[in-house]
Amino acid sequence: MSSPRETPNDPEVSEAQIAVHWKEEPRIDPPAEFVAQANVADVAVRGRFAIGRFPECFREYAELLDWATPWHTTLDTERAPFYRWFVGGTLNAAYNCVDRHLARHASKPAFIWVPEPEGEPSRVLTYRDLYEHVNAFAALLRDRAGVNAGDRVTIHLPMVPELPISMLACARLGAIHSVVFGGFSGDACGVRIADSGSRVLVTMDGSYRNGKWLDHRGTADVAVAAARREGQEVDHRLFWRRHPERPGAVAPPAAGRDLDVNAELRRRRGSLVPPVPMPAEAPLFLMYTSGTTGRPKGCQHSTGGYLAYAVGTSRIYQDLHPEDIYWCLADIGWITGHSYIVYGPLALATTSVLYEGVPTFPDPARTWRIAAKLGVTTLHTSPTTIRLLRKADPDGPRRFDLRFKHLTTVGEPIEPEVWRWYYETVGRKRAVIVDTWWQTETGGVLCSTIPGLDPMKPGSTGPAALGIFPSIVDDEGVEVPAGSGRAGNLCIRNPWPGMFQTIWGDPERFLATYFRKYNRAPHSRDWRDWPYFAGDGATQSADGYFRVLGRVDDVINVAGHRLGTKEIESACLSVPDVAEAAVVPVHDELKGRRPEVYLALKPGSADPGAVVLAVARAIENQIGKIARPRAIRVVPDMPKTRSGKIMRRVLSALSNAQDVGDITTLANPEAVAAIQAMIDVRGRASPARVPDPAGPSDTNQ
Ligand code: PRX
Repeated sequence: MSSPRETPNDPEVSEAQIAVHWKEEPRIDPPAEFVAQANVADVAVRGRFAIGRFPECFREYAELLDWATPWHTTLDTERAPFYRWFVGGTLNAAYNCVDRHLARHASKPAFIWVPEPEGEPSRVLTYRDLYEHVNAFAALLRDRAGVNAGDRVTIHLPMVPELPISMLACARLGAIHSVVFGGFSGDACGVRIADSGSRVLVTMDGSYRNGKWLDHRGTADVAVAAARREGQEVDHRLFWRRHPERPGAVAPPAAGRDLDVNAELRRRRGSLVPPVPMPAEAPLFLMYTSGTTGRPKGCQHSTGGYLAYAVGTSRIYQDLHPEDIYWCLADIGWITGHSYIVYGPLALATTSVLYEGVPTFPDPARTWRIAAKLGVTTLHTSPTTIRLLRKADPDGPRRFDLRFKHLTTVGEPIEPEVWRWYYETVGRKRAVIVDTWWQTETGGVLCSTIPGLDPMKPGSTGPAALGIFPSIVDDEGVEVPAGSGRAGNLCIRNPWPGMFQTIWGDPERFLATYFRKYNRAPHSRDWRDWPYFAGDGATQSADGYFRVLGRVDDVINVAGHRLGTKEIESACLSVPDVAEAAVVPVHDELKGRRPEVYLALKPGSADPGAVVLAVARAIENQIGKIARPRAIRVVPDMPKTRSGKIMRRVLSALSNAQDVGDITTLANPEAVAAIQAMIDVRGRASPARVPDPAGPSDTNQ
């Protein structure tokens, strides 16, 4: 599959000029057996969600929830684009995900947790167990850490049941959780603690990943120190134990600050905390994501709108049924895990598999062993993981008794040949595939086929989700004709309940990043004047299906994770010998894209090899292993415009072995030849290539 030429930092190349070499794939009907059991197989649903029914159509999602007080206004646009959904309504998210299921599903497993070490037994948590744990942990948060409604709590945990328990305990109290992906470094966690103003950090002593014990305790120390440097004190650290049954100190006796959660909970068994009914528009959580500046953005999601959208889309697009065994391989530390492991599936009383580790540990068949043993019916993962599993053992799925009926892909464009492997080898043509396009900001799926209704098309995400009205717009704001197959910027013309409310502490950035570009009237209260700019290039074919091409901004999508080029560049610039740094996306067979780094050193700098190592370390410490570049190159001179701007487009072309285009207007065209010669001499397997000890373990979407 060819991909668009990315143009980071380069306003001189129009985003709508993205090259598209796309062969339409034939459409495939969903398997009849699937359709016969689908939650939605009647085309009438499209009428219920037609534009004329907007915004009231979304009542259908909100009515899947239990409200403490009913709402009186479905959508309030008074402060557009800071919308308010289900105004007047109150509800509690934990009540909806746990308490309300006790009457009928108390002994039903909510989670089947599979530890990474294969010798360790799985742990089943029923809805009653979940209820007890959430209550006890909420009591601890409230009584020992002083957490109240509206407070922010940062959670830095691996894939263990204690992660959803901690989130739901916050939600029970009306506190706002901010889960930081467990693979992020202590520094990255500290920056997010400070930005959110969290006084409480919930973490664990350690966990297993790729056969190694990861020390989260040490990371928590770094996080607290980093937060302090940013002016934020952490008053309480709550340490869960990875092995609750093992004796030994979990936390040092930093009196009053560090708590051994498991020991405390033993004393609090049976504690009950009433769920606090929260206004629909009260924030439920923050989820940090990368953008075009070095500072991550805290996307703020609401309680009512978000939960309604998560539950409605889980029912329709994941097609979850009470008897299903559902396994989403994403990490809960990303939005996919929030919406489609925790909030949507639990609100539907689903049984989910939760897996601690790497899909290919200790061997490539691990994923299939788990799925066969537990009878997984519904699998949800990213193209990166599918590529990885396919490469590691293309016939692996054939050796197991797999019973999938539904397979999701999310997070990146999927190549048609990878799609076909998923469909034919993993799903044996008995499972339907949904390719869901959405973002941290959007809270839930915005483009996808409805699995029981629409034909599938390899490599295309599908039509707009119900109640979502996208358009493709050129850089001047002119809509590309619908269905023309021409590329442009993907926008959503209307608000929807799952959309984020703002960027925490920075409403101006919310407006500037997503709405100002195509706004038609700055003071308008009419949602039609505020198209949402998604930051992705896309095409729409004549059948209405969208194909998402990739980011049109300074964001690199690595294995389905978003990294900002500026974040990586600022980590590079923290190494004293580095004068200039430029980060560009390069195609990667497994991860879709990876960053490559170009460095120019200060005069009289130390040995370039030492600087490369220092830069690699700085990136890993300040962001995490997921940001590890594919190569770091020290160059004599950066290609620049006459006004002194680094031409990242040219560097990106060099990294991707593409034509650099017209460089005659550069101030120093000879710099391009010099870098080209370096790449040619060293080749792509040059010594500058950065080893990846994490291997495939950083696939988490
Ligand atoms: O570029 C798009 C890509 O992932 C970005 C969103 O990343 P994030 O906020 O981390 O959320 C990922 C999971 C929802 C998008 O801007 N993306 C997501 N899904 C797809 C996709 N690209 C192509 N096809 C998809 N299905």
